[in-house]
Amino acid sequence: MTKRIGILTSGGDCAGLNATIRAVALRARHGYGWATVGIRYGTLGLLERPVQAVTLDPARLDAALARHGGTFLGSSNRGNPFAFPMTDGSLKNRSREMLEGLRGLELDGLIGVGGDGSLEILRRLFSPIDLPFIGVPKTIDNDVANTERAIGYSTAVAIATEALDRLQPTGASHERVMVLEVMGRDAGHIAIAAGIAGGADVVLIPEVPWRLVHVVAHIAALREAGHTAALVVVAEAAGQSDEASDAASDAPPQGVGTWLARRLSLATGAETRATVLGHVQRGAMPTAEDRLLAASLGVRAVDLLAEGKADRMVAWWNREVIDVPLARVVGKSRTVEPDGTLVRTARALGICLGDGA
Ligand code: F6P
Repeated sequence: MTKRIGILTSGGDCAGLNATIRAVALRARHGYGWATVGIRYGTLGLLERPVQAVTLDPARLDAALARHGGTFLGSSNRGNPFAFPMTDGSLKNRSREMLEGLRGLELDGLIGVGGDGSLEILRRLFSPIDLPFIGVPKTIDNDVANTERAIGYSTAVAIATEALDRLQPTGASHERVMVLEVMGRDAGHIAIAAGIAGGADVVLIPEVPWRLVHVVAHIAALREAGHTAALVVVAEAAGQSDEASDAASDAPPQGVGTWLARRLSLATGAETRATVLGHVQRGAMPTAEDRLLAASLGVRAVDLLAEGKADRMVAWWNREVIDVPLARVVGKSRTVEPDGTLVRTARALGICLGDGA
C-alpha cells in the first residue's frame, strides 16, 4: 500500500518554505513512491472539519514554486495547541482535537517545518501518538540549536544588506546617521551578518551588552575624522542601553531603532533617520543558498522517515546535512557567540559594537 506522509509549515513564514515543501513531495514520490499531504495553516488546519489538507501532486510543483517566498500551505504563529486563544479571550487546550484531525489523515509519518518554538510545540503535540515526526529548521532569526543554518536566514541577511546598500548613498548625500532596525526576536544573527556585509559603522546586538555613550563617542569620532554620515544596524532584540532606564518617557514606543535614532540625534547633533525593515525580510524570493538548504533538508527529512527514524531534526553542519535528536534542539537557542568569528571580524573592521572595546 502506498505510504502517506504529511508536511506542515508552522510559525512565522520565511523565504524557502515552498522550496522545502516541493523537495519533500518530490523525494517522497520519486524516491519511495509515497504520497505527500500538505496540512494547511500550520496546526490550525487540523482543527477544521473536514481537516484542511491537500494531497500534493509533484507534477504540479514545478521549479517556479521554489522561487516564491511565503508558504502556499499557509502558516500560523498564533495557535498554540495547549493554550489556544478563544474568541471570548480564554485559552483552551485543543491538542486532542488536533490529534483527532491528524488521525483522520491516516499518515505514516509527518514532517514539521518550524523554528525553535514551533518545533518544541509540534514535538509535544505529536508525542502521545505513534506517528514518526521529523523537524526541519526554518527561521530568519537563525537561532535554532544544533544547526548552523535555518531556512530563511540567508534571504533575510541579503535583504538587510541590500537595505544598507540603499541607505548608504542617501545617508551620505544628506550627511545623516542612518539607523536600520532588523529582525531577530532573541538573537542578533541578521544584524551582525548584514552589518559586516553592508559596511555598517555600528552594530548593536543583544549578545553584546552596549551603551549609548560608546555609540555616541564612535559617531563623534567618525565625524571628527571627516565622515559626516554613518550606518547603524540594531537588532530588534538589542533593547536599549542603560542610559535610557532613567527616564520612563524614553521607553521606545516604536522599537529600538526609532528610539536610538532620536537619542543619537540629541547626543551627537547629527541628523538621523530610522528605518524599521520588519517583514520585508521575510517575504522575499529566496536566495540560492536558501533554496539549496531547503532542498537538502527536505530530501533528508523524507529519507529519515524511510529509514524508520523519528523524533529527529535535520540540520546543516560543517557543509553537510546531518540529523540530531529533537530533544537536543527544543528549549534551546543558538545566539550569536560574543567571541565568535563574526563578532571578531566586525571588531577587526572597526565596527563599533557599543561596548567600548
Ligand atoms: O521569528 C521570526 C520573526 O520574524 C522574528 O524575527 C520577529 O520578531 C517575529 O517573527 C515577528 O512575528 P510576527 O510575524 O508575528 O510579527
